[in-house]
Order: sequence, then structure tokens, then C-alpha cells
Amino acid sequence: MKINAQKLVAAAAKARAGSVSPYSQFKVGAALLTKSGEIIGGANVESASYGLTCCAERVALFKALTEGINNFVAIAVVARWDGGPMPCGACRQLLAEYAPKAKVFIADSDNLEKIRAFTVRALLPSAFVFSP
Ligand code: THU
Repeated sequence: MKINAQKLVAAAAKARAGSVSPYSQFKVGAALLTKSGEIIGGANVESASYGLTCCAERVALFKALTEGINNFVAIAVVARWDGGPMPCGACRQLLAEYAPKAKVFIADSDNLEKIRAFTVRALLPSAFVFSP
């Protein structure tokens, strides 16, 4: 299946509008693509207790996973940042667990045409795994 990175980045940019970021004002949007072509969006949600904040990538992942959706082939992340926002370490861990084969597309909301592509494995080599 050929992945349409531009379409997924556009979905992440749209999801970004849902950002709840009154503290940082840093709006991030993410969009997951499944093998069957379904797209699930998410945006960052902040808390007055800052550490409770949840990144856009994890919101999208948790939305999808708790609706029984998996088999992710790609994720796009968009924010107003030169070169686009790189996923934080916590999100990389969750992606390594639940979207290990996914491509990661990163773009600046002011320049959606310029997409940088990574693999989850490249973003988190030797990820922690645990099978009880
Ligand atoms: N943020 C994300 O949504 N994704 C990332 O990968 C990094 C950071 C959010 C969390 C917080 O709401 C804001 O960006 C500033 O850190």
C-alpha cells in the first residue's frame, strides 16, 4: 500500500485545531494511518499540573487503541516549528510498542509541503520491551 504522506500531514494539521494548550500555546496535531486506510487524529491536551499534559501523538494512539484500532502504518505530526516537531521520548516508546512498523512524517504547520520522514525504529533504537 502506497502511503499518501501529504494527505496524512493534512489530517494532522486539521487535528491540530483541537489542541487544548492554554499553558504553552504550542498546538500539536497528529494523525495515525491504519493498514486499511483509516485515519485517527489527535491533539495535545495540557493540564494546570503541567506533568499531566498528554502529547498529540499519544492522544491519537490512545483514541485509536481504545476503539480497537491498530495495525498502524504511519503517523504524521504537525506543529509550528521550523522543520516540524520531533516526537518526545515518551511518545517514541509508545510508538515502538504499538506502531513499531510505522513511518513517521513530520511537518511545520507553516510549510506542510516539506515533509521529513523517519521510521519508529530509527527514532528509538533498542526500545524497551516487556512480555510478562
Ligand atoms: N507536545 C506534543 O504534543 N508532542 C510532542 O512530541 C512534544 C510536545 C506538546 C506537549 C505540550 O502540550 C506542548 O507540546 C509543549 O511541550
